[in-house]
Amino acid sequence: MLLRVGFLALVAVASVAWAVDTDKNPDLVAKLRVANTNLDRMKLLPNDTDWFFDFTKQDKYTFSPGGVVNANAASFPATAGHGMTMAILNLGPCSMLPPHIHPRATNFVVAISGTTQTYMVAENGARTVTETLRPGQMTIFPQASVHTMMNMGCDNAQLVSALNSDDSGTTNLANTFFSFPQNITGTVIGGGLNAQDILGRVPAVGTGSNAGPQACIAACAKKGKMVKREW
Ligand SMILES: *[C@@H]1O[C@H](CO)[C@@H](O)[C@H](O)[C@H]1NC(C)=O
Ligand SMILES: *[C@@H]1O[C@H](CO)[C@@H](O)[C@H](O)[C@H]1NC(C)=O
Repeated sequence: MLLRVGFLALVAVASVAWAVDTDKNPDLVAKLRVANTNLDRMKLLPNDTDWFFDFTKQDKYTFSPGGVVNANAASFPATAGHGMTMAILNLGPCSMLPPHIHPRATNFVVAISGTTQTYMVAENGARTVTETLRPGQMTIFPQASVHTMMNMGCDNAQLVSALNSDDSGTTNLANTFFSFPQNITGTVIGGGLNAQDILGRVPAVGTGSNAGPQACIAACAKKGKMVKREW
C-alpha cells in the first residue's frame, strides 16, 4: 500500500517535471541578474541570436491538442530582469487550458484567432468572470487568480499572453489537488471517493493544454475538423 502511494507520488512528480520549461542557460541568467549595469548585460548578450526567439520552433508549439509556449527566463535568457514573459497559447478544436494559477504574475490575454471562452475567479468570495474572446479582444487574469479557457470552435484558436514576471510559474489545480493524500482529498470531495484513482485520470500537465470534452470533439470530427490524434 505504502509502495503504491509512493509510486503514484513519483508518477505525479515526474509528469509535473516534464511539463515545466527547461532552464536553457541558468549560468547566463544568473550573470544577467547580478550584472551591475545595462552595458554589462549587453556584453553578456553579444549576438543577435541572443535576442531572438521563435515560438513556432518550440516543442510545445502544437495544436494537438494545444500548447503554451513561454518566452521567459528559462526558455529565453534575454528576458531575465525585464519583468515580463510573453507566451503564445495554441488551442486545437475544443482544447482547453485546465484551471491553473500563476503564482508570480498577472496575465493579460489577447485572442488572435478562433473563439475562446475564459473563466476567472480572483479569490474566495469573488464572482466568476467569464468572457468570450474573438480576434482582437482581451481579458485579464490577475496575479494568483484561478483561470481556465476553452476553444469553443472546430478551428484552431491562438492567443497571445503577457505576464509581468520573467518567472511567472504555473500551478495546475487538479494535478496539485489530487496529489495530496487520500485523507485530505477524499475528505474534501466527500462520499468516500478514491482520490488516488481520480489522480490517475487527471491528464498530465504536458504541453499546458488538454483535449476538450468528448462531445465537442465528436461534433468537430463529424465536420471533418479534427486532425487524427491519439486521445
Ligand atoms: C556568438 O555567435 C558566434 C557565431 O555563431 C558563436 O561562435 C559564439 O559562441 C556566440 N557567442 C556567444 C557568447 O553566444
Ligand atoms: C494522512 O495520510 C498520510 C498519507 O497516508 C499520512 O502520512 C498521515 O499521517 C495521515 N494523516 C492523518 C491525520 O491521519
